[in-house]
Amino acid sequence: MTTPTPHIDSQAGAFAATVLMPGDPQRAKFIADNFLQDVVQVNSVRGMLGYTGTYNGRAISVMGSGMGMPSIGIYSYELFSSYNVERIIRIGSCGSYTADLNLYDVIIADDAWSESTFARTQGVSEADILEASPALVAALESHAKALQIDYTKGRIHSSDVFYRQNFDDYQTIRDQHGCQAVEMEAFALFANAQATNKQAACVLTVSDSLVTHEATTAAEREQAFTNMMKIALEMAA
Ligand code: HPA
Repeated sequence: MTTPTPHIDSQAGAFAATVLMPGDPQRAKFIADNFLQDVVQVNSVRGMLGYTGTYNGRAISVMGSGMGMPSIGIYSYELFSSYNVERIIRIGSCGSYTADLNLYDVIIADDAWSESTFARTQGVSEADILEASPALVAALESHAKALQIDYTKGRIHSSDVFYRQNFDDYQTIRDQHGCQAVEMEAFALFANAQATNKQAACVLTVSDSLVTHEATTAAEREQAFTNMMKIALEMAA
């Protein structure tokens, strides 16, 4: 695929080797405005804002992924295959499946289980569990430790459905597949990393609990996700 790609209006050198991907393009703008220096906007197609800048003098990009596996599947594939991006770290929110995970807790995903057909349809894997890149997981853990930010490491559920008819299904998914929390993108990101021989990882913050039904407001989320962002920003090359 040549650049610009169908969904990213930039030339090949526009992105850093490391890209952070929040779901919300406004969060990408928030990170660029508040954490990066020397910022250049590198995408605005469909409002999916992307920026390249520096963090402590090291190059890094941040771009929204949108919600769900089809959306992150499109953006991450174009970044990996056409923009020389080496590693993508998803930074997102999740719903907790266990009483042990409270609002605002940080999770570093080892791997993602999914009932999605994404990896099979794409032709990369028949597996229903896909791993994050172990080297990225180890790096994220060491940054979290250095920053003295508590985290849990574990398996997450990548779901295609946010509004389920039977929310108590989560207990079966947790008990049968070992998933600690639910989000909607990591499995497709990990599949694309495999397909393109690149690296991917996922750091999440708990925004709601399927166990206690507590939830955060949109305004609270914007601020409270700073811990996750700080860990991920250390991945700047
Ligand atoms: N389900 C799916 N994705 C999510 C959730 C949820 O409850 N919370 C945050 N992302």
